[in-house]
Amino acid sequence: MAEPDPVARLIFDEAGDLGDVVLVVDDLDGALASAAAARGARVLGACDDVRDEERLPAGTTAVDLTNEPDLSEVRTVLWPLPKAVSAVADVAEVLAARCAPDVVVYGGGRDKHLVHAMNDALGASFAEVSASRGRQKSRVLRASAPTPPVRTWPRRAALTELDVEVVAYGGVFATTTLDRGTRLLLRALTGAGPSADRGDERQRASHQPPPGGPVLGRALDLGCGSGIVATVLARLGWDVVACDSSAAAVASTRLTARANDVAVTVQRADGVPSGVRDLELVACNPPFHRGTAKDSSAAFAMIADAGRALRPGGQLWLVYNSHLPYLPVAREHVGPTRIVQRDPSYLVICSTKI
Ligand SMILES: C[S@@+](CC[C@H](N)C(=O)[O-])C[C@H]1O[C@@H](n2cnc3c(N)ncnc32)[C@H](O)[C@@H]1O
Repeated sequence: MAEPDPVARLIFDEAGDLGDVVLVVDDLDGALASAAAARGARVLGACDDVRDEERLPAGTTAVDLTNEPDLSEVRTVLWPLPKAVSAVADVAEVLAARCAPDVVVYGGGRDKHLVHAMNDALGASFAEVSASRGRQKSRVLRASAPTPPVRTWPRRAALTELDVEVVAYGGVFATTTLDRGTRLLLRALTGAGPSADRGDERQRASHQPPPGGPVLGRALDLGCGSGIVATVLARLGWDVVACDSSAAAVASTRLTARANDVAVTVQRADGVPSGVRDLELVACNPPFHRGTAKDSSAAFAMIADAGRALRPGGQLWLVYNSHLPYLPVAREHVGPTRIVQRDPSYLVICSTKI
């Protein structure tokens, strides 16, 4: 059994008597679920990331917060809080709407990751929110008395520069906005120029589907987030698979594709889903953190995965913060690599599988 970290220990200590049915949200190593089960509770586990879900201890019932889960018996929620306030707000809405009326939520975090907006995010769905005393640079926010539920996530927005309607849950990277790196990747993929004005015009033009044209080939949006890249590629005529390890991301991508009336096959997976092979194109804006910690290991693994999934001659298009050491990794795992776009912060590289 994994040793709980200081945040998990504080959450557990603050919760005290757990009651019969406990929901653990985003348990990073299964430690909270194991500790709750050892106290005799029936444990439900809601993990946004499939890697966390796979580490839930045997006997834990996995639930998906994006899919109207039955949480009616849950009176205690143990939750290492995510960094994004939008993710806290989204999950708080689900908990308030679906848990027992006398539920108490114990959301913990390192002091450096807790911001006052998280109290407000919890306070939008719970009438009572208070903070514990700090311990080992960590703290717990306790939320109770759910208020009548108002569901405000997933949210939608029109990305006029791409002519795309984006739909996103609160835990998704960039939620309903267009990340700068993603914008640069799309400019590179669609042949639009780097100048904002001229680029936007040319990009709009190049986002039209080829009239009656052939399918361009099989493409993968690897780590699809809200599904903007997948949607643009599908509109261009690619046969698109989109994948992400996050439940919120795959649910968002499905909604974004539907909102734009394009067909995209969406799968939740750690890296390239098994069976997705012989690709002509992989497009990827890789993650730079895992939970609250900076971590490039998933990006390295995704580049290597892309190398295995491309057919000879197929291409990986990758955007990343230019200080990161991804170019030699792409060259090693995929093949010859060139820089196709750059701005002061980001690089887009294209690697061809040999
Ligand atoms: C920087 S975001 C990019 C999202 C989206 N493509 C965009 O450009 O807006 C990276 C995405 O990779 C996903 N991700 C992280 N680790 C992953 C893994 N091991 N396998 C698949 N997806 C992963 C994250 O959930 C996140 O949605």
